[in-house]
Amino acid sequence: MTGKIYSASTTAPVNIATLKYWGKRDTKLNLPTNSSISVTLSQDDLRTLTTASAAEFFESDKLWLNGKEESVHGPRLLACFNELRALRKILEDANPELPALSKYHLHIVSENNFPTAAGLASSAAGFAALVQAVASLYELPQSPEELSRIARQGSGSACRSLFGGYVAWEMGEMADGSDSRAVQIATQEAWPDMKAAILVISASKKETSSTVGMQTTVNTSTLFKYRTDVVVPQRFKEMSEAIVNKDFETFGKLTMIDSNQFHAVCLDSSPPVFYMNDTSRLVIGLIEKVNKIYGRVVAAYTFDAGPNSVLYYLEKDEPIVLGLLKAALPDTDGWDKKPYTASISPAVPD
Ligand code: PMV
Repeated sequence: MTGKIYSASTTAPVNIATLKYWGKRDTKLNLPTNSSISVTLSQDDLRTLTTASAAEFFESDKLWLNGKEESVHGPRLLACFNELRALRKILEDANPELPALSKYHLHIVSENNFPTAAGLASSAAGFAALVQAVASLYELPQSPEELSRIARQGSGSACRSLFGGYVAWEMGEMADGSDSRAVQIATQEAWPDMKAAILVISASKKETSSTVGMQTTVNTSTLFKYRTDVVVPQRFKEMSEAIVNKDFETFGKLTMIDSNQFHAVCLDSSPPVFYMNDTSRLVIGLIEKVNKIYGRVVAAYTFDAGPNSVLYYLEKDEPIVLGLLKAALPDTDGWDKKPYTASISPAVPD
């Protein structure tokens, strides 16, 4: 076991959707049935750290996630590896002096500093970091937009973690997925005073994976077509405009109704898919009440495929939001009462 090991490390941020991606029109290529929008959270707060290594003497591809070895045979991971290797091969063919990394096996070591698979978008940060780490190792010249197309094949939402700030994943129209990729709507600097509080209501793994949940909805929900054909295209425009105009009132209202509609189509699936629990619903009630008392949107809640809540608010309102959570939420098992707070990420991983 001797020889040179080539390595590159990167970190990638978590993104939390405010207009949810739910449903695939192509399960192999991870092509969505609707466009989506998210906010990327600061890597100082939540991130995946990934090191990719390649060596001639490595005997097989390997992956360790939070210290545990995981399978590398899943089709999603293979799709990312294959695309990245093909791009490296093009580079090697054009520059014969480069080491033949495209022929070597890869070892990937990845660590999250937050609960994995608990509806906290760990797969988004995970696949974004993996794609970026291998791209750095391979010295690929591809832009974040092009890399987002590859990360999308690992986990759909991962494509949005290749950008900081406010990000759209445009669903695209092409059957090969070449136009289904993330673009930035606004930088963090353009609207810097947005913040997020992440309430870890349960850190345990979700019962229904997003892949299974989505396809149950696509195949059985009658509300779903209305959402994708009528609601989302209009909402996408309105939310993009709200972000560009720094209109928190509109942004917050749209965020909450979109989270609620996403969970409604889950409930409208057969068998129904439940992600929120009683504590999640308590958070919704609390935020709705506070917004009513203040006569404006102080905070907006959103829930992914799990019971944990993310609240978006403006920095000036942080004392109200954090004070309220401390005072009003009960002590329950799995609720640590200490939300992670996060700023918006200024930068993309590199
Ligand atoms: O990227 P996936 O396959 O884990 O799906 C993510 C789905 C949601 O988090 C519920 C919504 C989204 O847009 O991130």
